[in-house]
Amino acid sequence: AIGPVADLVIANADVSPDGFTRTAALAGGTVSGVIITGNKGDNFQINVVNSLNDSRILQSTAIHWHGMFMAGTNWADGPAFVSQCPIAKGNSFLYDFTALDQAGTYWYHSHLSTQYCDGIRGPLIIYDPDDPHASLYDVDNDDTVITLADWYHVFARGQAGVPTADAILINGLGRWASDPTSELAVINVQFGVRYRFRLVSMSCDPNFLFSIQGHTLNVIEADGVSIVPRETDQIQIFAGQRYSFVLTADQEIANYWIRAIPNLPAPPANPVENGINSAILRYVTADVAEPLDDSIDIRNPLDENALVPLENPGAPTGTIFPVNLQFGFNPANLQFTVNGAPFIPPDVPVLLQLLSGAQTPDTLMPGGSIIRLPANAVVELSMPSGGLAGSPHPFHLHGHVFDVIRGPGQPANTEPNLTNPPRRDTVSIGNAGDNVTVRFVTDNPGPWFLHCHIDWHLELGLAVVFAEDTDRWVSNIDPSPAWDELCPIYSALPPGD
Ligand code: C2O
Repeated sequence: AIGPVADLVIANADVSPDGFTRTAALAGGTVSGVIITGNKGDNFQINVVNSLNDSRILQSTAIHWHGMFMAGTNWADGPAFVSQCPIAKGNSFLYDFTALDQAGTYWYHSHLSTQYCDGIRGPLIIYDPDDPHASLYDVDNDDTVITLADWYHVFARGQAGVPTADAILINGLGRWASDPTSELAVINVQFGVRYRFRLVSMSCDPNFLFSIQGHTLNVIEADGVSIVPRETDQIQIFAGQRYSFVLTADQEIANYWIRAIPNLPAPPANPVENGINSAILRYVTADVAEPLDDSIDIRNPLDENALVPLENPGAPTGTIFPVNLQFGFNPANLQFTVNGAPFIPPDVPVLLQLLSGAQTPDTLMPGGSIIRLPANAVVELSMPSGGLAGSPHPFHLHGHVFDVIRGPGQPANTEPNLTNPPRRDTVSIGNAGDNVTVRFVTDNPGPWFLHCHIDWHLELGLAVVFAEDTDRWVSNIDPSPAWDELCPIYSALPPGD
């Protein structure tokens, strides 16, 4: 792992995490991404060094710190063409931000086109020296981070639609159907010890049914928010989401399957035989072998609508500023729309347009994709999933957590849960008939991306930008890096390179 002040080198490498060799783009040299750690309150200064040099993969990059509020440092948020230009190859860019009041499980990833599907993604763990759940576990370290990722044998660059993953990687290792011998990730546990595992979905597309044979998972955190502990034996986790759970190693000394079964390709094309979609939980002193028992016995799947924040549960109330989104999909040109417009990255990042004085949705580009939010308002954001193809879609909002007052599986006529709604930064908007609705307070000025975290769908336009309290903010803005730092020599290079 690297600490909060470090270089993060982005470079190409030939890797075979699932038995198939391809060139990838990696963060810190490993397929699941070097783990970045710090403590609550730390100032992070991550100098991203762009050493990419293979044109089959985009050679510029930009890194987003998923879940960090970036209060006062919107410029360091990372999404290309929203807050900065991509970092041209051969250059570096210093992301300087503070984990003000945040601790928990986060991650980072390229936020340029679909580049993270080629490997630029990793965990960002912020420890809380006063963790309210500290008495529930004995061990929480670099070895208890579990990353889930989809892996492709094709390059993301230039894919016209939505490719299907060839393998699922757990901690950077997996097995594709044609090589049933490749090495699987092993997580070692000692009998009698209680572990805090931090589960990160770095998926570009599928959601996963995650379970560990024979073990109960006591969930204590969702997307950086400590929650009232909830026991389960299966977590459905969507692209961009994170959970912490406590596992007590109290079963027979043996090997157990860890499963992450993707929804794509649809069963039965994604078997769990032969160690596909799997890793191994191994008790110390157990045989070095794969588990013999392939069975899956799920009795108590996690209800994602029943995750209650430990502190200050309850949705914000007051005068509501409604934002009603309508999604669409046009199969003729494979384009998604939000309120009629596909998000097409502008030439000049939205932040720089704002700093230049553009302030109205009419003058801000991309036209139709910028929604202004007033200061100190309670936004109620309605996201009915009707009109979309490729459901369920996980939606992520930058710069905030939100309270999910109507969750997936709860249609429009469901009474909103204002008392103890789940609080997180990424939520599935479910399937046809669902009307996921969230609330948040506009207390963090800046342009913030809201988008489907299926990266292929973001590329096809399924996004908008909220310009939150930006007129007042721009006139008072702390010095952010000058224009030429946010948009260095990139403008001299051909688009995409
Ligand atoms: Cu993790 Cu805009 O994304």
